[in-house]
Amino acid sequence: MIKVITYGTYDLLHYGHIRLLERAKALGDYLIVGITSDDYDKTRGKINNQQSLMERVAAVKATGLADEIVVEEYEGQKIDDIRRLGVDIFTVGSDWVGKFDYLNEYCKVVYLPRTEGVSSSEIRAEKRKLLIGTIGGNGGVRRKFIKETEFVNGVEYRECGDDLQGVDAVYIVSHPKNHYDDVKRALLAGKHVLCESPVALTVEGYRELMDLAHDKGLILTDAIKTAYSTAYSRLLVVAKSGRIGDIISVDSVCTSLADGAGESGIDLSLKQNSICAWGPTAMLPIFQLLGTNYKDVRITTKIIDEKLNYDGFTKIDFVFDNAVASAKVAKAAKAEGELVITGTKGYIYVPAPWWKTDYFEVRFENPADNKRYFYQLDGEGIRYEVVAFAKAVESGKKNLYVEDKISEKIVGVIEDYNNFNYLKI
Ligand code: CTP
Repeated sequence: MIKVITYGTYDLLHYGHIRLLERAKALGDYLIVGITSDDYDKTRGKINNQQSLMERVAAVKATGLADEIVVEEYEGQKIDDIRRLGVDIFTVGSDWVGKFDYLNEYCKVVYLPRTEGVSSSEIRAEKRKLLIGTIGGNGGVRRKFIKETEFVNGVEYRECGDDLQGVDAVYIVSHPKNHYDDVKRALLAGKHVLCESPVALTVEGYRELMDLAHDKGLILTDAIKTAYSTAYSRLLVVAKSGRIGDIISVDSVCTSLADGAGESGIDLSLKQNSICAWGPTAMLPIFQLLGTNYKDVRITTKIIDEKLNYDGFTKIDFVFDNAVASAKVAKAAKAEGELVITGTKGYIYVPAPWWKTDYFEVRFENPADNKRYFYQLDGEGIRYEVVAFAKAVESGKKNLYVEDKISEKIVGVIEDYNNFNYLKI
């Protein structure tokens, strides 16, 4: 029996794919189709697949041409697959001529002529683009966001005026005190919203906005870029899998002195305070790992401008039924920006700056058991955030990178702070 293998992404399965599969099958008796996983595609710079791995697998299966389907997840897997599955022929389209000659050592390599005039990229490009504008912000965050939209197919940045004409969606990066008004204005104008967290400064305001978005059939979602990084999502899975035993403590630190908040002569009224700037990111892993039902919370803060209730440093301590957590945030103090998840059998360590990490370690009593995890991170996660947002808008379904109840809890803690429910140092 001659076994043939071929690999591809097979996004929005088209005639070119089917012809390739038919000819690949005709080369032998048994056809194995390798389909790239979403994460592997990210590392190859393909971040804009319209369909998930499951959908792509289902489409290839439905052709009835594949005798077996494997998922391609890592660099170098082709050699492993060829050996493991006893493959005789490796084949791909002629767009790859020469690229896989190195596999000749393991099996025969055949390049099949590519079908002219059709490709997944073209089909994706024909779809109407999501036009996205911005509200507020004149600094680096907004600039970075605009730059990142260039990497995402199907999305285009458009300058928009106060009336928000000419865009389908907006990214809100104004001062947090304006978020509620800005989000409401955008929703009332029928625009989907991606808003820097916190979305509002009161839980009541947050709920009102969520209801409004729901009634209007619009997407309203938190922009916490860390939530979209692959390393961070894997870390959540590893932590929840029991590898480090029961989670006893989650401790996150986020600080930056970059915008000079603690220095004299700086107009703090234009700046975000520490809890708004960093609180959402610092609280994210706490709520995602331990849930939102804490029994107690204590906020300790160092105020640097009484009139503005502006904190230069804040520590938030949570007590859960079986665990504790702390979030340490500062714009006028500096500490190691790390994340540590303490378990009964070991711990997870994410080095600074953990919120834009591509790497973490699972550590045990015996260092020989330690394991390191590396992932690709492009554009600090913003790029993946834009992809997820565009997908949510297209499908009309919110993505679950930051759950609503977590967004609401983040708003709740910040509301507590704004109501002076803190201890001053
Ligand atoms: N293929 C083909 N003819 C086409 C398109 C693709 O023979 N018109 C082949 C590719 O050479 C590859 C397989 O189908 O062997 C899967 O290709 P894939 O990269 O998933 O599809 P593309 O349409 O090329 O996707 P993209 O535009 O994103 O590169």
